[in-house]
Formats: sequence, C-alpha cells, structure tokens
Amino acid sequence: PLAIVRTPADLRARVAAWRKEGLRVGLVPTMGALHEGHLTLVKRARELADRVVASVFVNPTQFGPNEDFSRYPRDEAGDARLLAGAGCDLLYAPGVEAIYPPGFTTTVDVGPVAVPLEGHFRPGHFQGVATVVTKLLLQALPDVACFGQKDYQQLAVIRRLAADLDIPVRIEGVPTVREADGLALSSRNRYLSAEERQQAVAISRVLNQLRDTLGDGSRPVAPAITQATETLTAAGFTRIDYVAVVDAGTLAPLERVDRPARALVAAFLGRTRLIDNLALGPG
Ligand code: PAJ
Repeated sequence: PLAIVRTPADLRARVAAWRKEGLRVGLVPTMGALHEGHLTLVKRARELADRVVASVFVNPTQFGPNEDFSRYPRDEAGDARLLAGAGCDLLYAPGVEAIYPPGFTTTVDVGPVAVPLEGHFRPGHFQGVATVVTKLLLQALPDVACFGQKDYQQLAVIRRLAADLDIPVRIEGVPTVREADGLALSSRNRYLSAEERQQAVAISRVLNQLRDTLGDGSRPVAPAITQATETLTAAGFTRIDYVAVVDAGTLAPLERVDRPARALVAAFLGRTRLIDNLALGPG
C-alpha cells in the first residue's frame, strides 16, 4: 500500500531522505477524484524523477462561494490505489488546518496572466491556486512538478509564479488526456447526466473546428468565435462563459492566428462547468 503523510513536516522528512540519497523528486499536485489524466501526470513525473509525490488536497480557497467545494468528489482510498498502480511513491494528503493554520493571511497574486478568462469568471480562483501551489512547491521542494495543459491558464499562472518567486523547480506541462470521443477527462465529468455527457463532446468539436478554421492565420478570429458560440448553444450548453482565441504565452486576445495561439472554452451543462482548450497555429 502507498505511504501517506499529512503534515508539511512529515512530507519534508520523507523528501529530505530521498534527497540525501541523491534521488530526484517529482511532485504532482491534485484535488483527488483521480482519473487517467492525473495518472498520466504521475507517469510523466516518473520519467523525469526517481521518486514521485502526489498531493491530494481539495483547496477551499480556490472555490467561489457558489462553486462546488462541498460537493467536490472525495475518495482517498480509491485515489491511493490508483496512485500506487501508476508508480507514485508517496501520497501527501493534508487536512485544511495543515495547509491553512490559524493566523494564515498571505496570498500569492500573479498579476496579468491570471486576470482574463478564468480569472474574470472565477474571481479569487487563481489567488487560491497560486497560493496553494506555492506552498506545495515550498513544502515538497521537488526537482520537477507536473501540471496538465487541460487547465491551460492555470499552467501559465504556475509558470509565472515559479519564475517570479525564484522557486527552483522545472514546471512540466502535460498534454490533455481525452475520452475516445474527444471529451477532456475531468473530475467534474461525473456530475454529467447521460444526456449531458453526449452534449459535452461539442466542446472538443468546436475547438477542433477553431483550429481548422483559424490555424493557418488566413481568417479573422471574431466570426469563428461567434459561430463556435452558436454551435455550443445549439448543442445544449446553458451558459457560455467564454470562447476565446489568445496568444499562447500572454493569453492576450488575437484578431488573427499569426503566432502560437490557444483556443479556450468555458461553458455550463446544467450546473456543471466544463473547460477545455487546444493549440492553434504556428508552434
Ligand atoms: P485537479 O483539477 O485535480 O487537477 C490536477 C492536475 O491534473 C492539474 O495539473 C490538471 O491540469 C491535471 N489534469 C486534469 N485533467 C486532465 C486531463 N484530462 N489531462 C491531463 N491533465 C489533466 O488543478 C487542480 O487540481 C488544482 O487547481 C491544483 C493545481 C491541484 C491546486 O489546487
């Protein structure tokens, strides 16, 4: 069975012992309810490091007041089994009080890259993510930490904070793992009804369409976004937060795909909010 630690001190002691042996350490931060996407991060970390720590912590500070913190799926025993099978060496599963003890007040605010898109529709979300990821990186002090491209803006935020705060870690972005029909794996997919699960595939279809239409840079972005939004509405999406085509590095909006770009979507099926994204154009 997989070893589990629950405090920063116990995590440090384990990692320090590996360090002393000259072993490289990889970290995979998660909120649990693990699926093949998370396990792919663990496998990538195994390739880049000698020992792999996964954290499972449903971070309250990155959820808004009307979001799904309390009903977010939790299954530590199942997660531990999956992690062991994927080659993880240690599970870090702290309680809320181990991460946010009484008196805690510091937050990490990354600035412009965290402002648009998810930052606009989920105020405070990236402050919560940046703060907890900074803490996890400083607690584990890994050589490499793996994050999914599924959460593309989150990955950009984490690259920024690691560079700006001189945290000596390689941030590895891992391609999105998808179902056979194209739906990106997500812990939130389990909220979908059978009908919604069918409708959900429209997101990846629309992203592929945007890539095919805009990828060569010959067409303007705006009409393609209008068309994509209409397609999602017709497919049954009840609320569309954004369909955006942005610079792959800065996340600033583009009028034409004349440089490495990313198409991103956030939309609701009923109460379930889904996000996905795809690389467009050169690079
Ligand atoms: P969570 O949603 O559990 O995701 C953990 C990691 O798995 C993230 O890096 C995410 O991008 C990656 N991931 C999720 N679905 C994926 C997929 N289909 N393919 C590839 N990677 C995928 O993201 C978080 O947790 C939290 O915000 C966290 C970074 C842990 C901070 O609390």
